[in-house]
Amino acid sequence: MKIGVVGAGTMGSGIAQVFAQSGYTCILVDVSLERACQGKEKIAAACARLVQKSKMTPEKKDEILAGIQPGELDDLQSCAVIIEAVQENMAVKKSLFQSLSRICPPETRFASNTSALSLTELSAELDRPVIGMHFFNPAPVMPLVEIVTGLDAPEKVVAELTQLAQDIGKTPIQVKEAPGFVVNRILIPMINEAITVLFEGTATAEAIDSAMKLGANHPIGPLALADLIGNDIVLDIMNVLYDETGDSKYRACPLLKQMVRARHLGRKTSRGFFCY
Ligand SMILES: NC(=O)c1ccc[n+]([C@@H]2O[C@H](COP(=O)([O-])OP(=O)(O)OC[C@H]3O[C@@H](n4cnc5c(N)ncnc54)[C@H](O)[C@@H]3O)[C@@H](O)[C@H]2O)c1
Repeated sequence: MKIGVVGAGTMGSGIAQVFAQSGYTCILVDVSLERACQGKEKIAAACARLVQKSKMTPEKKDEILAGIQPGELDDLQSCAVIIEAVQENMAVKKSLFQSLSRICPPETRFASNTSALSLTELSAELDRPVIGMHFFNPAPVMPLVEIVTGLDAPEKVVAELTQLAQDIGKTPIQVKEAPGFVVNRILIPMINEAITVLFEGTATAEAIDSAMKLGANHPIGPLALADLIGNDIVLDIMNVLYDETGDSKYRACPLLKQMVRARHLGRKTSRGFFCY
């Protein structure tokens, strides 16, 4: 069974690795073949690090890389399921699914890794539903997949994608569409609050992260987590929560906006609340 992954960034490359690890052939696509190849190189580097730490055999690494084929949008017509992991922007995702519905046969299933956008809106005007398959970062490590359903999502397709998540060793939970679903509805406002504590000068970034690790038993501090997720993604999700609910408690902290404007996005730009 072939799986297509569109978007070879942080999440798309991780998701492709997860499928290849479980024996699926995965076609990885980005805005250009060159970007897709860079995504595969990222996976190769991640696997090489695991081999170095003796957490993966060299044979498994070769098997994973052999299962990932960088490609272009047209190559996805042979895929049974396509998972979209492009930037968190409704217009970009909608236009991508429109193109995919022209390329792929009607039985190809469409899934989105969106963190907070409406699956109902993504599916509107399409010839098939888009189901949320929300992986967590880093996708090869985190066990959860939120299976998110918009209005009128067909049970058969939802059951198939839930089974697929189980087949790759993940734990799916069913979530009805709501802003931020479950994890981000709780997690992202907590991160935004940590940024506000920093903004107000209450404590340093190091102290805030230590406080939450030592006092709340979190495995990673909220600011280091923001850097891992990407501050642009954190801001996108806060904006979705705010726009969808109209509730002022979801206002993004001014410092988060400034960090994004300065391109201090976290690990992916080597600078966020911490330096990398
Ligand atoms: N970063 C996280 O922790 C995280 C976790 C769960 C879900 N998500 C969601 O996953 C999605 C991707 O996030 P990311 O962090 O991987 O972003 P990213 O910026 O690392 O990667 C996005 C990739 O999509 C590519 N892209 C953009 N438009 C495209 C198009 N039209 N066609 C093909 N490729 C295109 C970009 O070139 C880039 O390589 C977003 O919807 C995000 O909300 C992110």
